[in-house]
Amino acid sequence: MQGGSSRCHRIGAVSCGVLSRDNSSHDWCSVLHTADSLAPEWLLEPRDANALAAGVWPASAQRQPDGAVTIGGIAATELAQTYGTPLLVLDEDEVRSRARAFHDSFADAAAEHETTTRVYYAGKAFLSTAIARWVTDEGLNIDVCTRGELEVALAAGVDPARIGFHGNNKSVSEIERAVAVGIGTIIIDSAIEIERVAAAAARAGRVQQVLVRVNSGVHAETHDFLATAHEDQKFGMTFADAEAAVARIRELPALEFSGLHCHIGSQIFGVAGFRESASRVLELHDRLRAGGEIAQLNLGGGFGIAYTSVDDPTPIEQLAAEIVTAVAEGCAARGIPIPALAFEPGRAIVGTAGVTLYEVGTTKDVRLDSGMSRLYVSVDGGMSDNARPALYGAQFSARIASRVSQESPVLSRVVGKHCESGDIVVDHEYLPGDVTPGDLLAVPATGAYCVSLSSNYNHVPRPAVVAVSEGRSRVIVRGESIEDLLARDAGISTNEGAR
Ligand code: LLP
Repeated sequence: MQGGSSRCHRIGAVSCGVLSRDNSSHDWCSVLHTADSLAPEWLLEPRDANALAAGVWPASAQRQPDGAVTIGGIAATELAQTYGTPLLVLDEDEVRSRARAFHDSFADAAAEHETTTRVYYAGKAFLSTAIARWVTDEGLNIDVCTRGELEVALAAGVDPARIGFHGNNKSVSEIERAVAVGIGTIIIDSAIEIERVAAAAARAGRVQQVLVRVNSGVHAETHDFLATAHEDQKFGMTFADAEAAVARIRELPALEFSGLHCHIGSQIFGVAGFRESASRVLELHDRLRAGGEIAQLNLGGGFGIAYTSVDDPTPIEQLAAEIVTAVAEGCAARGIPIPALAFEPGRAIVGTAGVTLYEVGTTKDVRLDSGMSRLYVSVDGGMSDNARPALYGAQFSARIASRVSQESPVLSRVVGKHCESGDIVVDHEYLPGDVTPGDLLAVPATGAYCVSLSSNYNHVPRPAVVAVSEGRSRVIVRGESIEDLLARDAGISTNEGAR
């Protein structure tokens, strides 16, 4: 538990399993499962297996009198009919309002402490030209980490000065392209990169602003953080290496050192990890001021979202106020000016704006020797459009979106169509017992790291992405066809020339 809250928190794949029956966010859940169930401890049997949990779905999601779920004012049934399934439905207004909330919350918090903030949308969560335009319209900047992401942002017309470029292995050609287009900031991840960026900037006749990514030793894990003396992972530099890196950057006329960067992880609840990390990075920031004033401090992304009804992320207004206050207090304690701050949310902007629609193909009651059973519900997608359960054991939820049912809920597992037993979409969920082939199943909170991690495993085409807003829909990423899949096979006669 965190911050004295009585609510249940879950980070990534791990449920804390603490139940709070009098909590308003849980009041639609009633029955605690028993030891003779295959249900995990955190999953409550719902009173109503048709209910849409607040915070997990886009704010526009509703049940209509005919039972269908609408998103952005359009019935899921109509969307499935028009575009086919699987289909990722992205609520444009939800993305925009979350982008605005981040922008405004950090701006307000910064104004309180007489500084400024910049919020970069982390494009790795899901980037398309439409999304890049929505978030930049709402005042955000964009963080990219490959040439591909950079080109999408540029194709969307994003001002290169509003783009930050990350990555632990940016190639020389990626760096040259970024410098040539006038990218705002490059985040240096290793000593080798300093020379590469300086050479590219010198060749282009530019002075390139750079940040140095450091590893604060704060590890975001479960709902708390663990401080580790040695971080054994590929990103960032130790404080000692960063000091040397900054000294070298300051020697190079083609580079301008803008500040430090630190990202502690993803799907983080609460502010404790951010606060601890900021306090450690400020120590280095303070030391480095001996070599000249430092304009900014970037504390990265990682703000958690609700994937199931038991997740209870801290509201962004509160996060922003507490994090900025912590930095301001840290600066005051050291007697130094508060730098301009930057943040890089990805998941928290698009995650709960996305709902994936699948059609149920088969169902199977799987009974174990122990007598316990689970209903397997197979859908027409799977780990190719949502790799998160297979990769991280991530939890999602599901509802029938084409109708309501008064049948008693049964413990179910939603699985995909791939040739792998780990091809799970929703590991644990209670679905109405009469869920049947032809039902439309909706999995909410799939806006982040689903499309961006998608694959063609088993030669399954990747689904289309459709944006919805105020009763209108439009394709923002075209779905793949079988022809698209075959087009890359150089052994097919029409592609012979590609050999
Ligand atoms: N900034 C940096 C430097 C990052 O590495 C990341 C995420 C972000 C910002 C955005 O983090 P967010 O606000 O979205 O949590 N595929 C995993 C998540 C990997 C995150 C990688 N870096 C997942 O599906 O949970």
